[in-house]
Amino acid sequence: MMSESEESFFDSVLITGASGGLGEEFARQLVFSCSQMILVARREDRLVALSADLKAQNPDLNIQHHIVDLTSSDEREEFTAKLLEDEVSVDLLVNNAGLGDYCMFTDSEWTKLDQMIQLNMTALTYLAHALIPQMRERGSGAIINVSSLASILPMPEFAVYAATKAYVTSFSEALRLELKGDGIPVVALCPGPVHTEFGSVAMPADADALPGRDMFYVDKSEVVSKALSGLVGCQARVYPGWKVKSVAVGISLLPMAVIRWVMSKRIAK
Ligand SMILES: NC(=O)c1ccc[n+]([C@@H]2O[C@H](COP(=O)([O-])OP(=O)(O)OC[C@H]3O[C@@H](n4cnc5c(N)ncnc54)[C@H](OP(=O)(O)O)[C@@H]3O)[C@@H](O)[C@H]2O)c1
Repeated sequence: MMSESEESFFDSVLITGASGGLGEEFARQLVFSCSQMILVARREDRLVALSADLKAQNPDLNIQHHIVDLTSSDEREEFTAKLLEDEVSVDLLVNNAGLGDYCMFTDSEWTKLDQMIQLNMTALTYLAHALIPQMRERGSGAIINVSSLASILPMPEFAVYAATKAYVTSFSEALRLELKGDGIPVVALCPGPVHTEFGSVAMPADADALPGRDMFYVDKSEVVSKALSGLVGCQARVYPGWKVKSVAVGISLLPMAVIRWVMSKRIAK
């Protein structure tokens, strides 16, 4: 939860991918920091249970949940049209929904890659494009785009995922500059590994855990609280956890030739 000294209050917060992992954690930490919360994902039972929990904690909170497959352009359009029709003005957009696909590019299925591109890049960009005009008109708003530490590394066996996140970080940085004059902060949240369902979605059941990954895990509560304090502090990027931050600094200082050599050691086959 946001501490009192860091507290911001939002009229309306929209969180994508709220049915689990980081999205659910954003909802829990923002429960007293907004008057309306809009939760988006595909698993309705999860959203219903979360809404009931949040409502029990804060009976004054107005919660809506929307079942939207964000990889579908029709469903995205229907959803944003509904928000406009209901005159919902989103103050804080948490563009969190995302998925990975851990395998060699040539072994991957196009359907999954396409879903990943649609979700990680197109849906995130679409929602920002649809909601920023209202924020500008009101002269207030904020955006957290959930990217990844992978956004600053070309990653074999995670090539498309890392590339989608490179897009998210680059897009967020540029958008932040465009919206500076409007007082709309944009944060790229770049976590390292976090225990959520992300791994089970991204990795085949028989895949080995990524080597060295364990030592970088950061708890999801810390990831989200760092993102929210990064928003208050108008940070451009948030790398939660000192080890992840150190890796990010290290990567930014290393020559590309060294990064290529290190990443070539990752390939299992
Ligand atoms: N966990 C990590 O290690 C890690 C590290 C760096 C960055 N991230 C990023 O953090 C974000 C959140 O991931 P997480 O770790 O919390 O993973 P997660 O537990 O798998 O949660 C993913 C969320 O996205 C939603 N989602 C998936 N496909 C969707 C679709 N087609 N339409 C709408 N919603 C969809 C899921 O809900 P439904 O299945 O109910 O639709 C779920 O709520 C992602 O952008 C991920 O790339 C994660």
